[in-house]
Parts: sequence; C-alpha cells; structure tokens
Amino acid sequence: MLNIIIAATYDDMSRRAANIMTELLQEQPHCILGLATGTTPIGLYDELVRSYTDGEISFADVTTFNLDEYCGLPQDHPQSYHHFMREHLFCRVDINLANTHVPDGMNPDVDAVCSEFEAEIYEAGGIDLQLLGIGSNGHIGFNEPGYVFPNNTHCVQLTQSTIKANSRLFNSINDVPTEAYTAGIGTIMRARRILLIANGAGKAAAVAAALNGPVTPQLPASILQFHPDVTVVLDEGAAQDYFTF
Ligand code: F6R
Repeated sequence: MLNIIIAATYDDMSRRAANIMTELLQEQPHCILGLATGTTPIGLYDELVRSYTDGEISFADVTTFNLDEYCGLPQDHPQSYHHFMREHLFCRVDINLANTHVPDGMNPDVDAVCSEFEAEIYEAGGIDLQLLGIGSNGHIGFNEPGYVFPNNTHCVQLTQSTIKANSRLFNSINDVPTEAYTAGIGTIMRARRILLIANGAGKAAAVAAALNGPVTPQLPASILQFHPDVTVVLDEGAAQDYFTF
C-alpha cells in the first residue's frame, strides 16, 4: 500500500516524517531502523533530536543500518556518511554507537563488507522501518538506473549525474568518490515499512514516475510500488508532477 502525504514546506515534510518515526520508537523502543543520508533528511534528524531532547523518545535500545557509504573515504572525512550520521543524529541522542551500522567504505574486500552487512541485518531480525531519499534520476540508496534490480548489498560505480549532484558537498568534482557500497533493492524491499521523503521541484519528475510510472530498473525507486507498506512524504515542490503524470 502506498500512502502519500503532501506537506506544505520542507519543515512540514520533516516534521510529519519525524512523527512517523517517533511513533515507531515509542511503540517499539527496540526497533531496527534503516537510515539515509543526504540533504533531504537533515530536518527530519533535527526533529528526532528535538523529540529526544524533549524526553519523548530514546534511542538507547535502537539498532540502525545505513543505506550506503562512499568507498575510500575515512570515517572522519567530513563527507563520509559515518561522519554525517554522527553529526546529524548519533552524537546528539543516546544511541549506543555499537548498535549503529554503516558499510565500511575503507575495507576494499567487497564480498566481506557486503555479506557481513546483510548478515548483521538478518541477525538483528530485519529492518522495521527503512528511511529513503530519492535521487533526481530515481536512485534509492546508491542503486543507480540500470538493467536489473540488484538484490543485496553491493559495490557500485556512481553515475556521472550522481557524482555531479554530490560534488556540491566536495571541494571539487574530482574529490567525489566514484564508487560506493550500497544496500541492494532487495535489502530495501525486505524492510517491513518504508518511509520515502523528497523535497523540491528537482525531485518532482523522479517522484511522479516512481509512483505512477512503469516499474523498471531504469527508475529504481519504481520498485516501491510492489512494497506492501510505503509512506511517501513530499513537500509541494516534489509533489508538483504527481497528479498530472
Ligand atoms: C543517501 C542515499 C541517497 C539519497 C539521494 C537523495 O543515503 O541513499 O539515495 O537519499 O541521493 O539525496 P539528497 O537528499 O541529498 O537529495
């Protein structure tokens, strides 16, 4: 089932999505969360930190798995996703860092990194709620448009469009890693619930095609149409093509 919520603004999108996660944390303090990085979830993480500071939720018993990490960036590199998660969430709440999992981008042993990541998710009991952003090319995690839906965690070559989009956060486009570890489409689809957030007109075409168009690996997010429990929270910009697609 696809549940679409259209929020007026980015802040409203962040609040509504955070409310969904807050309710889950209150009902299931031991929940397993799949988390995303990027610009989109920053406001949501701020809201979760506010709920934590107000005493509404605790992360003490929560386990997390992040979708992806660049290959070759040390954990303390300002653009690594390890660093992002500590800055925006982990170091601001009472989570036990030992219960947080981000693929190890510094380990070149692809098979070891990927199989260990999948095994850890399995042993934790599977992901209760997977938070997702979406790329303007329809990627989820770093599953780029292609000819198949990759099943498990794997190493990807980033497309030029993703490298260009992400270069805004690096000193130069040449500093953007060209490879990343990412949860697969199967890893994402095995989550019991999915929460996709998107803001801004730059995401409108990808959002509309993902939710209304054919399910195709050319637009990886379109696979979400086959998931039984997806909530999509959009601001007005990201929703602008949804009704006219
Ligand atoms: C990040 C991730 C990516 C982003 C997507 C959107 O962990 O998995 O799929 O969600 O690239 O990024 P932003 O939010 O920066 O537009």
